[in-house]
Amino acid sequence: MDSIAQQLMRNTVFSHVYEQLWRPVFTRLFSLGGSGTADFDTALSAYLSRPGDRLMLDVACGPGNYTRRFADGLSGDGRCIGIDFSPSMLAKATRTNATERASYVRADAHSIPFADNTFDTVTCLAALYLIPDPLPVVDELLRVTRPGGEVVIFTSVRTDLTSVPGVREIAGMSGYRIFGRHEIVERLHAAGAEHVEQTITGQGQYVLATKAHRRLAVQKSR
Ligand SMILES: C[S@@+](CC[C@H](N)C(=O)[O-])C[C@H]1O[C@@H](n2cnc3c(N)ncnc32)[C@H](O)[C@@H]1O
Repeated sequence: MDSIAQQLMRNTVFSHVYEQLWRPVFTRLFSLGGSGTADFDTALSAYLSRPGDRLMLDVACGPGNYTRRFADGLSGDGRCIGIDFSPSMLAKATRTNATERASYVRADAHSIPFADNTFDTVTCLAALYLIPDPLPVVDELLRVTRPGGEVVIFTSVRTDLTSVPGVREIAGMSGYRIFGRHEIVERLHAAGAEHVEQTITGQGQYVLATKAHRRLAVQKSR
């Protein structure tokens, strides 16, 4: 049976309350323990919307706020595609955040409908903690990133606050997952990432990773 979080995300109401209610509440919750989350978010947005003709993918893009922000900074042939499985979120994204450089496709993050090694940058922000089986999604993010390209994740992480007995269990019952400190980083490494950089701030973690270039398997001569 779907968790409360899953049922909510599949409900059209979610797309209507997302910006006015859900996002402000969650932004505050993530900032508990410091203002670092908002500061990091600003820095990350500036970094990801830098000029360039990169091909970007924003996975679980919701109403496309980030997708559009990233797309607006691009130049040349740069494009940012947002994918999400919710028709109502995508309707909102298409209505309010579609531009020449930002477009939207309905898709499940577990099977991203693009070929291996396609994108220069792949983001997945504020979504993995709501997905019941999130680690295979991490593999998918890396699969569609080109060698040398970057993957950027923002999600939950275990902290002193969320380690209080009962907190993880209560969160889990609602379908909100709190990741162990190394879970995302280790999965990225296992899927072929290198230079994985994790920043824990407030109740969240930002993870920036680079996909490794393929290396030739050189056999030693005897
Ligand atoms: C909290 S919103 C985050 C939206 C956006 N990334 C942001 O930060 O504003 C989570 C989004 O994940 C989407 N989502 C959840 N599970 C998904 C899945 N398996 N495949 C694609 N999208 C999914 C939901 O529809 C929702 O739009």
